Amino acid sequence: MVKILDTTLREGEQTAGVSFTINEKMTLAKMLDDFGVDMIEVGHPNVSPKIEEFIRKVVKENLKADVVGHVRAVKGDVEMAVDCEVDRVAIFLATSNVHLKDKLKMTKEVAIEKVVDCVQYAKDHGLKVRYTPEDATRTDFNYLIEICNAAIDAGADRISVADTVGVMQPHIFYDLVKTIKANLKPVGIDVHCHNDFGLAVANAMAGVRAGADCVHTTVNGIGERTGIVDLSNFVVATHILDNENLKYDLKMLKQISAYVEKITGIYVYPLMPIMGDNAFTHKSGVHTDGVLKNPSTYEPFSPEMVGKERKIIVDKFAGRRAVMSKLNQYGIEASDEDLLKIIHEIKKVGDERKIVHETDILDIAEKVLGVKAVTIPTGVDAVLFLRLEAHIYTTSISRKIKNMKGVEKLYEMSGDEDISIYASLKNVAELNNLIEDIRSIPGVLATSTRVVLKKYGEVNGNSC
Ligand code: COA
Ligand code: ZN
Repeated sequence: MVKILDTTLREGEQTAGVSFTINEKMTLAKMLDDFGVDMIEVGHPNVSPKIEEFIRKVVKENLKADVVGHVRAVKGDVEMAVDCEVDRVAIFLATSNVHLKDKLKMTKEVAIEKVVDCVQYAKDHGLKVRYTPEDATRTDFNYLIEICNAAIDAGADRISVADTVGVMQPHIFYDLVKTIKANLKPVGIDVHCHNDFGLAVANAMAGVRAGADCVHTTVNGIGERTGIVDLSNFVVATHILDNENLKYDLKMLKQISAYVEKITGIYVYPLMPIMGDNAFTHKSGVHTDGVLKNPSTYEPFSPEMVGKERKIIVDKFAGRRAVMSKLNQYGIEASDEDLLKIIHEIKKVGDERKIVHETDILDIAEKVLGVKAVTIPTGVDAVLFLRLEAHIYTTSISRKIKNMKGVEKLYEMSGDEDISIYASLKNVAELNNLIEDIRSIPGVLATSTRVVLKKYGEVNGNSC
């Protein structure tokens, strides 16, 4: 069974704009451990004092997963990992010509000496060792095999084939990993696939097919530049498409993704496979009719499997079945004739506006049927006003807030308030989270929130 090394806490923290607190890291490490990943890469101990402090702390947690420190091929780095008492150390040193010549300014021979030296040191101090030839996929093949076999002879039990700039394609990566495996002494093989061309998950799956037994992932696919293999995408694709019976607690995926969304401020885009809001959302009448009859008509697997829910959108694309099912959710029944009238009105609204809100549907139903709907729809829109401390650069706060979940518009203003925000959220709990997140930003002095009761879309062609 393929192993997962999750590196959200190392590679993930290298994402632009991301930095975790020790508590956030600890919570995530425990979640990943409960989910069932085999290894958790926790960071370079010598990058910063807090990273070192976290590593020293997490090794004491006795997680089921191996705790992996990540270090350069520098003796001092390895010594620090040894001192932190991690289970395993991942020593990386790039092997491609461009990295050796222009970045490291090192000959191929010296690179081998450094790797052997560091691997041996870590091994002699009781650590399990992985060697990562960084930029392996752009490395001269014979040299790649030579340095990896030298690392294995020195005590490395895993080699990570790093597609550092994401230039692989599945069929090429398959051949490469297969040939690497055939030429290496017996060893575990990791694949570390970057997503520069959107091929990370496909390449990782090809790598596994070719004989790799461990894939590096991050939650929500975060990482340097455009990130690496997304945990949920890889695990679920392997489970469903490759028919692998994996040991992971898939139902936890939504919760883990939502947590990382919250602590990174990088929100999962709606069309993202599996974790995106749209992954199990159906809109057009033909699709919604099919899904309401049998979800597998338009879903490759059920949302419950990954802790999510199905959503049916009703707007101008809706047909009778979707509208009836939406009305039924609110305890409203309608005759065939009234249903057609309601649909007609919904389509009119849908032609005029980008979004048909549930309140619109209920308004229409009330008018057509002459009854009052008793249930209050979900979804809450709010306007928030913020006052900042005098010395604070307003734009630095705006930058932090503008990507927060639910924030649709943000204005920096003159007058008593410094910033105003228009936010649209699923429920009051989400609104509350947004307010808490904003209040926790240093420099935010006060917030005041107004809940929107009714919206009037476009006025004279301008959005209001
Ligand atoms: N093994 C050995 N040396 C390496 C290396 C490796 N795998 N990768 C890079 N280096 C060298 C570079 O050649 C450069 O050396 P030079 O200064 O002699 O030219 C140095 O490491 C990196 O440059 P710089 O960041 O300016 O060095 P620094 O000594 O000030 O800081 C770190 C080193 C590691 C503490 C710092 O870069 C850092 O905090 N990095 C964050 C972690 C990181 O970069 N991770 C990447 C993982 S893929
Ligand atoms: Zn990487």
